[in-house]
Amino acid sequence: MCVRGLEDAQEACLATQTPDVIVQFQSQTHAYRCVLLHQSGAFFPEGCGVEAEEVGPRTDHAGPCLVLLKGVTLPRADFEAWLRDSVMEWAVMRVYWIKQRCADRQELVRQLLAQGPPDGALRLHCFPHKLEPWLGDALPLDWVLQPAAFTHVLDVVETAAGVAYSMSPCPRLFRTTAWTRPRLEGPLCKATSKLAEALAWVKHAPRGGVAIDLGASPGGWSTLLASSMHHVISIDPADMAPEALALPNLTHIKSRVETALPQIEAALAAAGAGGGADLLVSDMNKHPSAMIGMVEPLLAYLKPGGHLLLTLKFFSRSRDKAWDPTNCPQLAGFRGVQVVWLLANTAHERTCVAIKC
Ligand SMILES: C[S@@+](CC[C@H](N)C(=O)[O-])C[C@H]1O[C@@H](n2cnc3c(N)ncnc32)[C@H](O)[C@@H]1O
Repeated sequence: MCVRGLEDAQEACLATQTPDVIVQFQSQTHAYRCVLLHQSGAFFPEGCGVEAEEVGPRTDHAGPCLVLLKGVTLPRADFEAWLRDSVMEWAVMRVYWIKQRCADRQELVRQLLAQGPPDGALRLHCFPHKLEPWLGDALPLDWVLQPAAFTHVLDVVETAAGVAYSMSPCPRLFRTTAWTRPRLEGPLCKATSKLAEALAWVKHAPRGGVAIDLGASPGGWSTLLASSMHHVISIDPADMAPEALALPNLTHIKSRVETALPQIEAALAAAGAGGGADLLVSDMNKHPSAMIGMVEPLLAYLKPGGHLLLTLKFFSRSRDKAWDPTNCPQLAGFRGVQVVWLLANTAHERTCVAIKC
């Protein structure tokens, strides 16, 4: 085969090969949790990679904060649109698309020069960030570099293993200030990302029935639940925010959980939920041993098929937690019992998810 033929074959291969995607987070533990989410199969749609792994070198708490998604078949625009609407969006800093690899940045420049400049303005999009000015200086002046109005993106990720990159037509990056929403939009929204992510995790979360929210003040979770459930029963001795109290489908029982059983029963009956609640959630911030004890008397009020979502508070920051929910006698009548580390959980928190048999 002549040299041109070889080049054509390589170009055709590059054009058709399935790219990898590298997602950059703000912390190594977020990268780890992204891998757990991917392994769960819970909310990454088809085409988001056959495997996810943390890029090293790393320890449990420090590293490049990168996750490699191998073999992403969703087109870039579709993948990034999904990510933008997903519960992971706030935790993601940058998304790099990878089709080629080489030994180091000098080899990268050689390969780019051999390829030639793109047919339009190019945005350099590099990890680490400081590679961008280095690369900008290394490329000849006929490469039109434009950080804002560009038609092509050069994604580059340089790690101890070498350089991974791709150059492709792309008018918009995943992260631009134009659309970035703040994660916290008000006191009621502060805690809701945890519940939103937990509901995304369970995938077929109940809608339209009755939810019981233990430790509900000031009302972020209850407000979110009220938007999809027929009725929400919120239990907390503390006040609820006025906007939560104003919701027509929310009942506040101003009491500790331990003394609220008769009122909960009455509220369930008033909401027409004689058969029990569809969802029992709690964000009371208790250690599992305390939480399970407090929730136990209420498990009888959850319907078969009803979901249990509990925030658990631990004392250590380690990745692995000693508490095993599958050995918890109170949860013997539940299936799909898992303790997950949501992106929205703190280092000390986990979320227990279970479905009543
Ligand atoms: C982290 S806050 C919950 C925030 C809430 N999920 C939200 O979205 O607004 C924890 C709440 O648990 C409540 N709490 C703690 N112990 C409780 C108990 N024994 N019974 C009822 N509520 C309790 C506290 O009063 C506090 O308001």
